[in-house]
Amino acid sequence: MAAQRLDGKALAATMRSEIAARVAERARAGKRAPGLAAVLVGEDPASQQYVKNKHKACQDAGLATTVHRLSASTTQAELLELVGRLNADPAVHGILVQLPLPKQIDDGAIIRAVSPNKDVDCFHPENVGLLMTGYPRFYPCTPHGVLQLLTRNGIALAGKEIVVLGRSNIVGKPVAVMLMQKATATNPAAGDATVTVAHTRTKNLADVCRRADVLIAAAGVPGVITPDMVKPGAAVVDVGTNNVDGRWLGDVHKDVESVAGWLSPVPGGVGPMTITMLLYNTLDAAKQIDG
Ligand code: GUN
Repeated sequence: MAAQRLDGKALAATMRSEIAARVAERARAGKRAPGLAAVLVGEDPASQQYVKNKHKACQDAGLATTVHRLSASTTQAELLELVGRLNADPAVHGILVQLPLPKQIDDGAIIRAVSPNKDVDCFHPENVGLLMTGYPRFYPCTPHGVLQLLTRNGIALAGKEIVVLGRSNIVGKPVAVMLMQKATATNPAAGDATVTVAHTRTKNLADVCRRADVLIAAAGVPGVITPDMVKPGAAVVDVGTNNVDGRWLGDVHKDVESVAGWLSPVPGGVGPMTITMLLYNTLDAAKQIDG
C-alpha cells in the first residue's frame, strides 16, 4: 500500500494564512509590519531560488521584506558592515544571511554578528544554547517545519524511536535536540522521543534506520534511504534538497513509498514548511522587539 503523503505544501498554505491574519491584526493595532531582511551574496542558483521563494512568501503574508544582493567578490568587512546596519534598523525584525557564503567570508563570523534578537534562522551560538537548554528564543526553521509536519498530521512523537540521518548544524543536530527534548510551556516544539543520530561513520546503517518509527533523512545524498532501511509503516520525512541537473531530488528513494506509512515528498514536503517557519519567526521577532 502506498504511504500517506505528508503534504508540506498544503500545511504551509494553512499556516501562512494564520500568520497573515496575525500580521493584519497587528497592522490594525497600528504596529509596524514584521520586517525581514534577506542577504544573498553571489550567484549560487539554489541560493537564488531559496531567497526568491522566501521573499515571495513574505510579501504574500504581508511582511515587509527586502533582499540585499551582493556580488560574489564581497569582502567579509563589507558584509559585516551591512549586517551592522540591519541590526540597528528598527524596521528590520529578522535578518537572514543565506548560506553558503563565498569562501573569502567566514560563515561563523557573520552568524555571530547578527543580533541574536533578529536571528530568525536560529544560527547564533546564543540562540543555539538557548534551544539546547530548553528555553528557545527562536526555533530553527527546517527542524521546526519537520516537527510541525509530523504533529499536525497526527503523528505522535512521545516515546517513539526516531532516527535522524545527518548531523549538520542546520538540520541534523537541532532536529535531534528538539525531538528528544521534554515538551514544556516554554518549549512546546519538543518531541519527548528516543532519538538516534546516524551519519557517515555509522555501522550497520540499514539496521539502525530500520529501528525507526520516524525516520528523518537529512544526509544530502540523493536516494540514500532505500526500502530495506525502512520499518514497514514508519513515517519518513525527506529533508533532502539535492539539485541534480536542475531537478530537486530528495534523500529518499522513490520505492520507499511502498514500505513507509507516511512520506513527505520532494518538492512539496519540508521545503515549504521551512519558509513558513521563517515567516513565523519573523512575526515572533516583531512581537519580541515591538510588543
Ligand atoms: N542555506 C541552506 N538552508 C539555509 C537556511 O535555512 N538558512 C540560511 N540562512 N541559509 C541556508
